[in-house]
Amino acid sequence: MTVTDRIAIDPFGADIPAESARLRALGPIVPVELPGGIPAWAPTGYDVLKELILDPQVSKDPRLHWRLFPEIGANPSWAWILGWVGVVNMLSTYGPDHTRLRKLVAPSFTVRRTEAMRPRVEAITAELLEALEAAGADGETVDVREALAHPLPMRLICELFGVPEEMREDTAELIAAIMDTSDPSPEHATWVQERIGAVLGGLIAYKVEQPGDDMTTELIRVRDEDGDRLSDEELLYTLLLVIGAGFETTVNLIGNAVVALLRDPGQLAAVRSGAVSWDAVIDETLRLHPSIASLPLRFAVGDLKVGDVTVPAGDAIITTYAAAGLDPEHYGPEAGVFDASRAADDHLSFGIGVHRCIGAPLARVEALTALPALFGRFPDLRLAATDDELRQVRSFIAFGWREIPVRLRG
Ligand code: HEM
Repeated sequence: MTVTDRIAIDPFGADIPAESARLRALGPIVPVELPGGIPAWAPTGYDVLKELILDPQVSKDPRLHWRLFPEIGANPSWAWILGWVGVVNMLSTYGPDHTRLRKLVAPSFTVRRTEAMRPRVEAITAELLEALEAAGADGETVDVREALAHPLPMRLICELFGVPEEMREDTAELIAAIMDTSDPSPEHATWVQERIGAVLGGLIAYKVEQPGDDMTTELIRVRDEDGDRLSDEELLYTLLLVIGAGFETTVNLIGNAVVALLRDPGQLAAVRSGAVSWDAVIDETLRLHPSIASLPLRFAVGDLKVGDVTVPAGDAIITTYAAAGLDPEHYGPEAGVFDASRAADDHLSFGIGVHRCIGAPLARVEALTALPALFGRFPDLRLAATDDELRQVRSFIAFGWREIPVRLRG
């Protein structure tokens, strides 16, 4: 196939597993077109993805290594990608800049520091489940995403970063808009850029006035005392990244696990009996329904050989975690089946290498608290929607359910 035969990635992410299978049939790495017509390459299997992520000749800095970066301004329908590559934080830097920016935040999310957050996670979970029970007491349908999966990680990350109550709704709306890739219009992109400045710029201004014992205040202090370690721009975009990644991904981890278990009574029984651990449920959910299905963008620093294909220097690549988790060459012919007993903890869904997710321990503590508490409290919990009625989040990046209607009792 030539690069003129680019396959358009579905901006709605309506059926990510089927799309991954179609691409895999075309080869180990396939030329694709992202929403708005942005050209990129999509690796289609586990081994290729892992190799590319770990290859030092693959960068995350668009300013240094993306040939088309200077052309974004001339293509209004490409402007949406600026929400991902026009930002300067650890996710979009390479080499020493990446190390510097990561070091400012990563130490706050070690396994030890995260363990200290567990009591707060448990307290928020208990409060949310109380409210869920009250809402569904009369056999009403309740939405587990809205009642538990979303507010738990959202409240926790907002507390860590000192986001006041009155700014939280705007923050959630902004992050959802960045994750929604179904509208590549320049108007949507402009709105996102303006809201980044208004919402996170607003948070910084608020915290300058009212410092607290929180990570935003700490990052402002670093910027003020040592601008070489953190510039104004990097402060804004670091907050965007860590607050955004800190809840949206975990929302979908909890939601995807709930749906997978409610759809499969055999798996749920195995977990309830203790034959399968909650840790295994979380890993299997991440393998098969990774909260980040694909992430834009990485860039070839030099020409890259992938099998018979050459990815030219300066080209863009998406990291395709969903395709890796579904790869039958790695996970066998039943790769598309949810089976927590396979204990597949080698998935790439938290990334690997220098950009590996700093929040993986926190996401795990949240899911390991929320899931057993939910299923323990409601032994008869069941889905109140058919497969056709459940709707995916509109995104080729995020992988999750827009609502999860359930009934608490039989
Ligand atoms: C289920 C939950 C989560 C999933 C599936 C997830 C997934 C990922 C993935 C795949 C990467 C690697 C990106 C790359 O290599 O380009 C990553 C990086 C990152 N994650 Fe997470 N994440 C989750 C939760 C969190 C949480 C709770 C936080 C907040 C503390 C967080 C903060 C970050 C940050 C800051 C990075 C960038 C690291 C770097 O570039 O060095 N994530 N995440």
